[in-house]
Amino acid sequence: MDRLHITGGTPLHGHISVSGAKNSALKLMVTCLLTDQPVELTNMPNLADTRFLAQLLESLGVEVYWPKGTSTCHLNAAELKSTIAPYEQVRKMRASFNVLGPLVARSGHATVSLPGGCAIGARPVDLHLQALEAMGADLRVEGGYVKAAAIHGLKGAHINFSTVSVGATEHAMLTATLAKGETILENAAREPEIEDLANCLNSMGANITGAGTPIIRIKGVEKLGGTTYPVMPDRIEAGTFAMAAAAAGGDVTLDGCPVEDLGALIAKLREAGVTVDADEAASTLRIRRNGSPLKAVSLSTQPHPGFPTDLQAQFMALMCTAKGTSIIRETIFENRFMHAPELSRLGADITVRGQEAVVKGVDHLTAAPVMATDLRASVSLVIAGLAAQGETVVNRIYHLDRGFERLEAKLGACGAKIERRSGEDE
Ligand code: UD1
Repeated sequence: MDRLHITGGTPLHGHISVSGAKNSALKLMVTCLLTDQPVELTNMPNLADTRFLAQLLESLGVEVYWPKGTSTCHLNAAELKSTIAPYEQVRKMRASFNVLGPLVARSGHATVSLPGGCAIGARPVDLHLQALEAMGADLRVEGGYVKAAAIHGLKGAHINFSTVSVGATEHAMLTATLAKGETILENAAREPEIEDLANCLNSMGANITGAGTPIIRIKGVEKLGGTTYPVMPDRIEAGTFAMAAAAAGGDVTLDGCPVEDLGALIAKLREAGVTVDADEAASTLRIRRNGSPLKAVSLSTQPHPGFPTDLQAQFMALMCTAKGTSIIRETIFENRFMHAPELSRLGADITVRGQEAVVKGVDHLTAAPVMATDLRASVSLVIAGLAAQGETVVNRIYHLDRGFERLEAKLGACGAKIERRSGEDE
């Protein structure tokens, strides 16, 4: 199993270019199921998760052409050979569940495994299922599988989500594009990835308005065509590198950065005493900290445009050495503090009380072997390692490979002492 060896204490200097957004790419790939024409996605991030979804699509009969190391993925679902997504595949990656609605819209039926639990809480799919049912799908849950059918086709529906859910909003939007009549989604998620998906679907001939607001209207169309569409830049990756630079110190510019999507983080970094130059027109974000101490800042995660839960672990890593006490509240997921005990192994002073973590800043962190648990938690350990004294070993980094493209190469190019090694955990 691969691990990362990080020798902390070196400030970072240079430029990092931001990759395509994992969370957007995963939903954009699914659009191919809605058309018999080719869908070509550019700026695709080469990640374990996107490669994995490509395999699932292939198993459904999609022709996938995505040469290794390239960022253009060609998908062609001219004919589907299966409408079954097995447990083994959906269990590994929850976003696979989003093939259910599109398969029903295209073929009239589908059988897709329930995703099951996951490391950051129960994460149910009830809202996804309610939306599909409202559109006329007949659903049965049997042996851990959802069996869905819409013999007479799907119809538009008025859906008012009880909780803001990114996945359910996207799933409903994908499915509604081919339903008869208009679908209205209320209390829809407003994450930038939702707009990206709507723009891609509209480029295929869909009729979606309001994406990025709490009310989305989708007028169903008879057919969708192919498209060539660029995946938006990854705001979570960008935010992660911004915090790596803030933690290690130095002067780093992020190129191709979705500055407009990072407002909540930028405000918190500035409050913490980090110098941030945000240039929306040039799509660059420059992060500077030259020896000045960090100030403790509290925050609460919220749906977009609030502070993203996917940046919470990284911000906690940053706060470990800030002056004062920071209170970090996680409001989106119920069990998303698994990084706290690992950060404590590096000398951090963190107390978790339910949905709240109290981080008392310490003078410095000291290297230790730590274990990656989930994707964002893993990268928080990398950030802490860059700031810690000595050599930190982050074990089980397959989580990182799910969501960060060439992480060690990008950080290494800015002077970070970070190396991937294979073999037993340390
Ligand atoms: C997506 C992102 C993930 C991010 C999260 C929140 C992808 C691949 N993943 O996950 O990185 O952390 O948004 O920004 O895009 N919920 C229900 N019932 C449902 C669906 C969700 O109760 O049917 C709850 C969840 O348990 C959670 C909350 O709604 O408490 C928000 O989850 P959701 O926005 O759906 O997250 P995902 O789409 O799974």
